[in-house]
Amino acid sequence: MKVCIIATILLALFPGKALQAQVKEHPVPRVVENDGRYALFVDGAPYLILGAQSNNSSDWPTTLPKVWSAIEYLHANTLETPIYWEQFEPKPGQFDYSQVDIVLAQAREHHVHLVLLWFGTWKNGSQHYMPEWMKLDSQRYFHVMNKNGEYIDSPSPFATASMEADKRAFGALMRHLKQADSERTVLMVQVENETGTYGSVRDYCPAANKLFDGPVPPEILKAMGKTPATSDANWEMVFGPEAEVYFHAWAIAKYVGEVAAAGKAAYPLPLYVNDALHDPLTPEVPVTYESGGPTDNVIPIWKAEAPAIDVLAPDIYLSGTEQYLKTLDLYHRPDNALFVPETSGAARSARFFFSALGLQAIGFSPFGLDYTRSQSAQSADSDARNAFLEPTAQNYRLVGPMMRDVARLNFEGKLQAAAEVEGEPAQTLHFGNWDAVVSYGVGRRGGPAKGNSEPMGRALIAQLEDNKFLVTGYFCRVDFRSAGTEQQRKSGNIVVGTGQTPSALIDGKWQHRQFLRVEEGAYEDGAFKSQRILNGDQTDWGLNFGSDPEVLRVSVATY
Ligand code: DGJ
Repeated sequence: MKVCIIATILLALFPGKALQAQVKEHPVPRVVENDGRYALFVDGAPYLILGAQSNNSSDWPTTLPKVWSAIEYLHANTLETPIYWEQFEPKPGQFDYSQVDIVLAQAREHHVHLVLLWFGTWKNGSQHYMPEWMKLDSQRYFHVMNKNGEYIDSPSPFATASMEADKRAFGALMRHLKQADSERTVLMVQVENETGTYGSVRDYCPAANKLFDGPVPPEILKAMGKTPATSDANWEMVFGPEAEVYFHAWAIAKYVGEVAAAGKAAYPLPLYVNDALHDPLTPEVPVTYESGGPTDNVIPIWKAEAPAIDVLAPDIYLSGTEQYLKTLDLYHRPDNALFVPETSGAARSARFFFSALGLQAIGFSPFGLDYTRSQSAQSADSDARNAFLEPTAQNYRLVGPMMRDVARLNFEGKLQAAAEVEGEPAQTLHFGNWDAVVSYGVGRRGGPAKGNSEPMGRALIAQLEDNKFLVTGYFCRVDFRSAGTEQQRKSGNIVVGTGQTPSALIDGKWQHRQFLRVEEGAYEDGAFKSQRILNGDQTDWGLNFGSDPEVLRVSVATY
């Protein structure tokens, strides 16, 4: 903000070209891919969204103060917050930009970026955020019809009038952002919210039935790797039992793809859609989950039909470790950047922030982290008041100051992460000639790793040079063991030692790790500043991380 005011004054006084060149221009944020890895570029460099999503009804002038104070406590750099269609377009074609402008201005005052959530046609599978004038004309803006011919609480992707209205409104929003946000406070926009339908696999309205009995569009055949026997093969003939869910995904992706394209044509910010998941490990029938949204089984359909959407993003409320990690894996694809726009902020889930970083996530954002709903928000005791924020705050306090480095190292493929898994007290990460061993539930000195009583251990390790690492984490011990050269690894002649110092017998010769230097430091203005050298009790048993945010730069060698 300050930069802009100063620049405006200087430009008014000295309108010369040379000076104009000095005015800081902020390029439009974009999702960049290199070698199968992704980064969100903000101001020309990789950026990591340390986000928090507000509660659904928090983006109002009366409630925003309760959002900003939580954002501050969290050390979040980005607020995800909705824009409500019902507020934005109170009368057909009449747009009210006041809510957008208020949240933009307040975000800048708080030095926080925004991800705006377009609560448009779909909100958790329903059409509850459509303006009143649409809700009152349900013939024109019709709902999904179930198998029994009844309209249900979900918007029809075949309602062309709804789609045209959404395109017009979303286009107006993006056009407004283009002219109101040259500072690029807004980093990305979510199109709709958890699209899909609960309670019916697909729409059975006459228009839908006709298309379902017709040929499958060529881009869907290609995306799903199908070559039908005849060119007029219908959905059922091509996809059998999956036909209905694939059809509904196609219909919704097509609709949302058009809305997204209208917005992107106005202002090319990164766009994403979020997904209400189905269980990635146990097959479910589509009526029990939100059919038609970008669930993992239909990702290729969404990619083919909605190319203006940059990222398909999972909302992860699954509590099982295996399910959570599987979901991250399913959305971390060569054609998709990993972004977690909603998840639980509970202590048990805090470690998954690290799991996501280990898969080059461009952002992470627990849901409902403001003081509008929490009962404890009334408490006079600040620990009690902030308990629901603390697990996320702990992560962001640590990673916040180093977020540019984390994003860059990730984009360069140099960073890996570990998160504790129940029953697995140690994990090994491979970095060329070194293995990093992360163990949980070890005493300050020796003894076997037993795992923490709650699985909350996590570590981030980046290889800065062949023998130099950046290491940080919570509730774990990190150490390094020689992994031999590539040739030695191939020959398989390596035996791991069991002593206190990590060692390996490689081609008949012991290689014991020694620390050359362990620097503890802090990030200042985005750069690591060494504060002291750790040695003695602080390193003799490995690098121990507890509940304090600690960052180390470590050089290792063997003897
Ligand atoms: C997922 C939705 O996307 C959010 O808007 C919110 O409704 C949460 N579920 C749960 O409250």
